[in-house]
Amino acid sequence: MGKLDGKVAFVTGAGRGQGRSHAVRFASEGADIIAIDTTATVGTVPYPLATAEDLAETARLIEKTGRRVVTGDADVRDYAGVAAVVEQGVATLGRLDIVVANAGICSTAPTLEMSESVWQDTIDVNLTGVWKSLKASVPHIIAGGRGGSVVITSSLATVLAHENTAHYAAAKAGLVSLMQVMAKELAPQNIRVNTVHPTTVATDMMLNEAAYRLFRPELENPGRADFEEVTAKLNRLPVALLEPEDITGTVLHLVSDDAKFITGTTQLIDAGGAL
Ligand SMILES: NC(=O)c1ccc[n+]([C@@H]2O[C@H](COP(=O)([O-])OP(=O)(O)OC[C@H]3O[C@@H](n4cnc5c(N)ncnc54)[C@H](O)[C@@H]3O)[C@@H](O)[C@H]2O)c1
Repeated sequence: MGKLDGKVAFVTGAGRGQGRSHAVRFASEGADIIAIDTTATVGTVPYPLATAEDLAETARLIEKTGRRVVTGDADVRDYAGVAAVVEQGVATLGRLDIVVANAGICSTAPTLEMSESVWQDTIDVNLTGVWKSLKASVPHIIAGGRGGSVVITSSLATVLAHENTAHYAAAKAGLVSLMQVMAKELAPQNIRVNTVHPTTVATDMMLNEAAYRLFRPELENPGRADFEEVTAKLNRLPVALLEPEDITGTVLHLVSDDAKFITGTTQLIDAGGAL
């Protein structure tokens, strides 16, 4: 018996990192998966996004669990593109119960020196892209009439301010209000909506030179060890970086019946970082 037997889940940003981890774990708990990522470029992101091969690998890992998967190359900024994949996924897999709006980007710049495109890309993907993903998918949960669960990936950045991340933090804070309004709107249909707020996670978003420089601006050529010295101090528990699977545990809890009366909440997964 899996925690998600018979369910279908839609996961954005599933090509790698946390999204892949959520999708594969959900499959191992019995869910079929609709997984999207994008091969489009977002010009202001200082590290490569996932590739088509990454998403194919996620699909392979899901199929290895014995579950079915429908994948699509869709940019969360493109409502029609996302809606088409979800439509196809629901037609193939028969229903939709769970949505995890996880896709996101990260760039850094001082607030008053940031270009308009750095600001706008981040809002477009991290805030508007989440709304578009939910608009494209949640109506399928409603149509099923069985209730369901939505998890939105926000960040510890909504609680703990870091210089050079105003655009990212503003988008992630916007997600909390989006979540709260939707939790209220969807409660009568027994659809729960929550946000998760991870501290630093060991994914390609953070394991790159731009992130190392964000955390160690005083060093000429900071590397991973320099980066981890700082991230370890951000956390109270003795850990420098969380792994994607550490976030998946909480996301799985929220989408499962174990959390059937949890809605409208912000779940910190921050190793005590907000203390
Ligand atoms: N890594 C961290 O330290 C950290 C901390 C807190 C929150 N987060 C959030 O967690 C989520 C997952 O990030 P991750 O850590 O797995 O990093 P990641 O970069 O490995 O994963 C993000 C995924 O989103 C995809 N994506 C980006 N833009 C997209 C778009 N326009 N359309 C569709 N897909 C798109 C990327 O291709 C990638 O596969 C993000 O929302 C991120 O902001 C990350």
